[in-house]
Amino acid sequence: MDLLIVGSGFFGLTIAERAAAAGRKVTVIDRRHHIGGNAYSADEPETGIEVHQYGAHLFHTSNPTVWEYVNRFTKFTNYVHRVYTTHKNVVFPLPINLGTINQFFQAAYTPDQAKALVQELAGEFDAKDAANLEEKGIALIGRPLYEAFIRDYTAKQWQTDPKDLPAEVISRLPVRYTYDNRYFNDTWEGLPVDGYTAWLERMADHPNIEVKLSTDYFDESQPLNKKDTVGQVPVVYTGPVDRYFDYAEGELSWRTLDFEQEVLPIGDFQGTSVMNYADADVPYTRIHEFKHFHPERADRYPTDKTVVVREYSRFATRADEPYYPVNTADDRAGLLAYRELAKGERDVHFGGRLGTYQYLDMHMAIGAALSMWNNQLA
Ligand code: FDA
Repeated sequence: MDLLIVGSGFFGLTIAERAAAAGRKVTVIDRRHHIGGNAYSADEPETGIEVHQYGAHLFHTSNPTVWEYVNRFTKFTNYVHRVYTTHKNVVFPLPINLGTINQFFQAAYTPDQAKALVQELAGEFDAKDAANLEEKGIALIGRPLYEAFIRDYTAKQWQTDPKDLPAEVISRLPVRYTYDNRYFNDTWEGLPVDGYTAWLERMADHPNIEVKLSTDYFDESQPLNKKDTVGQVPVVYTGPVDRYFDYAEGELSWRTLDFEQEVLPIGDFQGTSVMNYADADVPYTRIHEFKHFHPERADRYPTDKTVVVREYSRFATRADEPYYPVNTADDRAGLLAYRELAKGERDVHFGGRLGTYQYLDMHMAIGAALSMWNNQLA
């Protein structure tokens, strides 16, 4: 073995694929029973509808190198992501755009009129002086839109009143003064034609790659553990950086999600893939209806059944799946301390969203892995 990779998410698999193509013998271990990290998906058995097991994953990128690379393993559908939100029993388009504004104010503002209105409403606070997330939100888009679409949703995401959240949690709240409600601004977007797992498996399908699942790097009863490999073989580690150092500099904090999945005996529950719930009286943040991610599969998906997943957000404990870095001042100090420790590890390369404690979209994880391969490992 020339290289050991801990974690079979997009970061680990990209390194594995590049190394194998360059003639290196690679072993990839993952503590889960499947490959692919958080991008893993599986067909719901009763309906055959593909469900993303760790939350909805939409591929999008403006990076030509990444786009060329991912197209070696999968074709993409022409799915374009759009999100709606329910507020006081009325459905509005997101991100906040001219359609949202005109529907909310029961008006027919032109782009310039809407801009002038939002600027006037936003004058209540100065974004530079905002003492908390609430003041920042109002300074960015004005109180009425903030209270309708941001306040309660944010409180549900963080289980915290936005008045008690730091202003820097949001840097900007995009408002579009057109009717364009495409969710992503990227050059390319789409979903893998035959699913995420087929894509991920093709990346690992090489005689130089061996994958060992249900194998935890910190389990010393299995041979590919930290104690017996560091210094013996180059390691790419994509698990949580604080866990690697046995939490020596404290625990980095994360938010996690709980998913409540249900098969319903109806053809269509909400007419779209993602519906957010903006108000405090609904405990979940959003509902996904997975069949709508693949309208091109209409001929093989059932017409009388659908799969919906309600999503709840909360702070993670050590036993939970870490999803989004909380990134408090303590976390940032902890991360710097872990980066110092990481420098002292012989031939261990920390990568991916857990290894570097940062939120990475898939194209960013793949792009970062390609850079690590080219600049440090090749
Ligand atoms: P990832 O977490 O995928 O993989 C790390 C792997 O390491 C895991 O499989 C884990 O089991 C393994 N591991 C950890 N500790 C280990 C140990 N001790 N021993 C062995 N293995 C270990 N992106 C995007 O582009 N569009 C989107 O719509 C979304 N949506 C989205 C929703 C949600 C809820 C989340 C949390 C994330 C997204 N993402 C996303 C981001 C996407 O999930 C992310 O880019 C990739 O998961 C990053 O891949 P990594 O390989 O870095 O981590």
